[in-house]
Amino acid sequence: MVCLGNICRSPLAHGILEELAPKDWVIDSAGTSSWHKGERPDTRSIITARAHGMDIDHQRSRPVVVSDFEEFDVIFAMDSSNHSHLMQLAPNDQAKAKIRLIMNEAYPEQNLQVPDPYTGGDEGFEQVYQMLKESITTFLQHNA
Ligand code: 4NP
Repeated sequence: MVCLGNICRSPLAHGILEELAPKDWVIDSAGTSSWHKGERPDTRSIITARAHGMDIDHQRSRPVVVSDFEEFDVIFAMDSSNHSHLMQLAPNDQAKAKIRLIMNEAYPEQNLQVPDPYTGGDEGFEQVYQMLKESITTFLQHNA
């Protein structure tokens, strides 16, 4: 699960997928930037997760690394900017083929964006949670 800072959107996506996916799946999240490397998720993401019964406090932000394209079968971008960063970082066509825009799971080919809630209010985090839950649930119905 990849966003820009790996403190707002992708930690929520990571938590939701971890809660709902088969327990033997390897799940992680990362940022296209290293701006918040080593930090906990944004407090508003932690609170939103907690309101939905999830604990994401243990997560720490890290940047995407090229070896992620070998380690993981699917790499989800939250928005088109994350997607294009990942496409630039991908070392080959096989790696590029693993990159997907997450909202296309629930809304195929619409290229909907998970909005960056960082500079907005608390309600943006709940909206992000609901969007991610819908797309992740649809993804699991088709792939788990
Ligand atoms: P995220 O949100 O990409 O969902 O983690 C952001 C977090 C931090 C910044 C931007 C977006 N920032 O500019 O520091």
